Amino acid sequence: MPDKIIGFSKLSRDKKISWISKNFLDNSSEFESILNKYLNHDKTIQSIHNSLSENVISNFHLPYSISPNFLVNNKNYCIPLVTEESSVIAALSNSSKFWYDRGGFKSKVLSKIKTGQVHFKYYGNSESLEKFIKVNERALYESTDRITQKMRERGGGISNIKLVNKSKELKSYYQLHVDFNTVDSMGANFINSCLETISKKFKKLLSDSPQFKESEKKIEVIMSILSNYNPKCIVESSVECKIDDLGDIDGITSKEFAIKFKDAFDIADIDINRAVTHNKGIMNGVDAILISTGNDFRAVEAGVHAFASNKGKYRSLSKCSITDDIFKISLEIPLSIGTVGGITDVHPMVKLSLKLLNNPTSDELMKIICSVGLAQNFAAVKSLVTTGIQKGHMKMHLINLLIKKNASKDQIDKSEEYFKDKDINSQSVKDFLNKN
Ligand code: MEV
Repeated sequence: MPDKIIGFSKLSRDKKISWISKNFLDNSSEFESILNKYLNHDKTIQSIHNSLSENVISNFHLPYSISPNFLVNNKNYCIPLVTEESSVIAALSNSSKFWYDRGGFKSKVLSKIKTGQVHFKYYGNSESLEKFIKVNERALYESTDRITQKMRERGGGISNIKLVNKSKELKSYYQLHVDFNTVDSMGANFINSCLETISKKFKKLLSDSPQFKESEKKIEVIMSILSNYNPKCIVESSVECKIDDLGDIDGITSKEFAIKFKDAFDIADIDINRAVTHNKGIMNGVDAILISTGNDFRAVEAGVHAFASNKGKYRSLSKCSITDDIFKISLEIPLSIGTVGGITDVHPMVKLSLKLLNNPTSDELMKIICSVGLAQNFAAVKSLVTTGIQKGHMKMHLINLLIKKNASKDQIDKSEEYFKDKDINSQSVKDFLNKN
């Protein structure tokens, strides 16, 4: 076992690599050679990557793909997606094409409030504390004036500060719950700076307050932090068409398809086994565009899954209805994202993705992302209730095996027909290549 290392971050890149090779990789030179292959030959770009994180020794590439024909609110988008899951792009492209001819996706932002909390303990009287917050509300707002100035100029800022008494759930525990509008930025740093400033001011105001006894003048701030639970930052997307307009799908009539499809959605709404996988299918698309546009997919994932259980049980995020011959699916999710600030100002590929999407406002991007999630969900469930998911997956698997064995384009084109009723494995692919 290697000794604990102190000061790893201070070592040069070369020294970091030799230390890792020596202690974990039998001094193999392969490690350095792979790391070097993935460095960017453009020094400016590499230095941008180096600055994004700590202890950077190389880059980790994922495919950057495009799915065209994506119609949202009558605008035609080309969607940039970063994912390693091969079927995601094919599924989205399929779904985009399908709904393009049926009016496309309709989407709207329902609300856009983000929140954060100052979590603290207080041992005095809760009613007096509540009155104190009301009287001093203005001073708490004003304490953040310098931080919020630019945001207010853009139409955002703090919209509400209130006391939440949680002492029944946890002894002496309260929150200052603060609502924010961060306009086009995700606003994580902005929210956290405001909360830390408010907590300091709150502490000071209380300790200077003449109406409280000495023992009631103290709060114990535990932490001040934004919440990734965003049930008031919601976007909705939907698609609909007449059942007849669905057309026959993979051997079943439009009516059979619609009923089976709705059954699949209803199952996801009542059964957690299915709900989690159903929602994962939605997030396949959501995460891929969040990454390509430089957004925090971990934050969105955490918030979305909490939202899926906000009625006391984990449920499907999307819905399907059949009313008077109209087949409709919709998706409502919380999305706290940004199109300015953070990595969006720095990473050349992120800037490119945003440009490709016509430099959207955060509202526009919320609508695109939610629609991508719904499109992905439609494609996944469509496969599941018709051909099964493996058909598409095996096609990708076949292409991967063919590429690995240096197949020509002509061989790849011929392979689909050949493998229609055959097992796909390394040996059968070898046999096919020998024959063709
Ligand atoms: C696979 O990544 C996603 C699916 O499992 C989603 C679903 O089951 O709805 C196909």
